[in-house]
Amino acid sequence: MQSLCFYDTKPYDRIYFDRFKSAYGFEIDYFETKLNPKTAVLAKGRSAAIAFVNDDLSAKTINALSESGIRCVALRCAGFNNVDLEAAKGRIRLYRVPDYSPYAVAEHSIAMLLTLNRKTHKAYLRTRDFNFSLNGFVGFDLHGKTMGIIGTGKIGLTLAGICRGFGMEVIACDPVRNPKAKLEYVDLETLLRRSDIISLNCPLTKESHHMICKKTLDLMKPNAIIINTSRGALIDSEALLDALMKEKIGGACLDVYEEETDLFYEDYSNHIVKDNILTRLISLPNVLVTSHQAFLTHDALSAISQTTLQNISDFLAGRANPNEILCR
Ligand code: NAI
Repeated sequence: MQSLCFYDTKPYDRIYFDRFKSAYGFEIDYFETKLNPKTAVLAKGRSAAIAFVNDDLSAKTINALSESGIRCVALRCAGFNNVDLEAAKGRIRLYRVPDYSPYAVAEHSIAMLLTLNRKTHKAYLRTRDFNFSLNGFVGFDLHGKTMGIIGTGKIGLTLAGICRGFGMEVIACDPVRNPKAKLEYVDLETLLRRSDIISLNCPLTKESHHMICKKTLDLMKPNAIIINTSRGALIDSEALLDALMKEKIGGACLDVYEEETDLFYEDYSNHIVKDNILTRLISLPNVLVTSHQAFLTHDALSAISQTTLQNISDFLAGRANPNEILCR
């Protein structure tokens, strides 16, 4: 049995990895702590480390992992913006799960949109209190509205299909256009000006960092709703808060937040959360925040665990694997 070191473990992770680990010949030591320069040593003597979206894979951590003899890190997620690729080059092989369930993320985007628009989260609380008033619950039809999708990869295209089912007009922007998508591609400025709802479905890169900022928020319709299920730092949160406070846009559905690393996935209900931007965003009636949970379906967790274990298995056997993140 080969031994693996699992960081940032949550109970739902264990269920799925425990289900499949023996079939791949692995035993797993689960740690609740996140991966960082100090905790990297926990991986010593194991065949690989398994990490997640908010683990620290900076140069310092990569050095510490490398000194502990680790040659493989398998990310159990799609995005890898938390990894210093330059530092990993030639020392640690990196793998990810690029494709587990675009449906999970696209469906969560729609769940958030419908909730914010039709106020079902508030209706649930009201009727439990036998308050049957409808005041303040007026929403709008999605039918006939324009959805602007930024990034037409697996999730963006799945979302486009769902939106068409609602009778929405779908427009998109992406530097790499997908001819099979049968979508109307426009430039970013046109998308922002025309869309009633804007969904971010592109990766976080140097180019896309803060793509939603004061300048781009100013282009949006006054009732526009922005959905972010990709990565927090695609949005300049301070500029978003300012636009919402000045009622320049209609609302925001945020599954990710640029400063989420030390908050999301943990219970701070008995603490004073010091992040003033997040606390003010959460306090607004036209903002809905979920804790980076768009991926959280049985189907996705099952696929994530199997692909992660297969990635490590391929690394150990020296097999080529398309899920390897090639360091530049
Ligand atoms: P993908 O790789 O299939 O597609 C990404 C698309 O974005 C590509 O078509 C690419 O050309 C495009 N793109 C890149 N830069 C762009 C830019 N500046 N403007 C517009 N388009 C751009 O990725 P997939 O699987 O669709 O995932 C999208 C993102 O969703 C991931 O990068 C990840 O950050 C996020 N994600 C979030 C999850 C959650 O639980 N909230 C779960 C899974 C993914």
